[in-house]
Amino acid sequence: MQLAHRLTALAAVLSFAAFAQAQGTGPIKIGLMLPYTGTYAGLGNAIENGFKLYVQEQGGKLAGREIQYFKVDDESEPSKATDNVNKLIKRDNVDVLVGTVHSGVALAMAKAAKDSNTLLIVPNAGADAITGPMCAANIVRSSFSNWQPGYGTGIVAGQKGYKKAMTITWNYAAGAEAVKGFADGFEKGGGKVVKDLNLPFPNVEFQALLTEIAAQKPDVVFAFFAGGGAVKFVKDYAAAGLNKTVPLMGSGFLTDGTLEAQGAAAQGLLTALHYADDLDTPRNNSFRKNYALAYKANADVYAVQGYDAAQILNAGLTAAKGDLAKRDAITAAMRKVTVDSPRGKFTISAAGNPVQDIYLREVKGNNNEFRSIAAKALADPARGCKL
Ligand code: PHB
Repeated sequence: MQLAHRLTALAAVLSFAAFAQAQGTGPIKIGLMLPYTGTYAGLGNAIENGFKLYVQEQGGKLAGREIQYFKVDDESEPSKATDNVNKLIKRDNVDVLVGTVHSGVALAMAKAAKDSNTLLIVPNAGADAITGPMCAANIVRSSFSNWQPGYGTGIVAGQKGYKKAMTITWNYAAGAEAVKGFADGFEKGGGKVVKDLNLPFPNVEFQALLTEIAAQKPDVVFAFFAGGGAVKFVKDYAAAGLNKTVPLMGSGFLTDGTLEAQGAAAQGLLTALHYADDLDTPRNNSFRKNYALAYKANADVYAVQGYDAAQILNAGLTAAKGDLAKRDAITAAMRKVTVDSPRGKFTISAAGNPVQDIYLREVKGNNNEFRSIAAKALADPARGCKL
């Protein structure tokens, strides 16, 4: 073939690929932006596993479309977040962004998604602003707002009759907002937060702060930590003997995906979250079984959130019959869906955040066991969201 003919043939192939993509016959490009290194690495992996498990259960396709994955390790590093998300938006030209874990990184992702009008599903990061002042039709969260589990924990701490609390967390959006949620719930029951302690993310030098807790002897401590940092905090708390004197509570991330590493130090801890390992429903049982078979690991809340991110996307794509050009049909269906989640059924608020039960859980062995409902069908206040 002469060069001119070859070029014409190549152009035809390329334009067919573009045509196929636009018409909804090529693969849907999903950009996974998650932490694969650092203190939240385990969380990122569980989210990816959960997402892919749901897609596999649909025969590897959503709404009849093949799925193609693009991945970026965001390292839970806000200073690199805009460059990282643009690798997916501009270089890889993805159709949908899925990410991330860290609130600071997710805030940059939400801004980039808004500016480029790319669909974004947030499978963990609870930054209140994403479904508050930054809310947008193209952004949905499959997880929680930081306020929600904090608030549920505060309600339970109040019901237990505690009056004086100290809080401890990393000094960034997720920690501050979880603490605010706790204070809101706790104060409703007549309690008072007497001191907030914090340290920079992702530091784990807890000793000086634990000494301060021991000196002040509050009735209860509320903690927000997750991943590797949560493992170290719970162990240090017990090693300091504080588990014998000052009850420790937290947003359930403190003991989720961490129990094998925390061992004896975590036993008996009470936390509040939108998931419990032992929810005895057919949906949760089959999810946990399939997850364990696929990944040789126990599912946790992060796996659930990844799985539900794929379910929400599927609802949007199915309403549009797989046609990405039908953007309004996709975004409307992603808000209207009732998600049949392993956590129990939940809906999505107008602001794009789950309206869901928050459970009180207790650590027994390697499980966070359900004890009661701390807050029923809890919606985030979504302050500042105008849609
Ligand atoms: C967050 O940064 O929003 C965050 C991180 C880890 C969690 C929960 C929330 O487990």
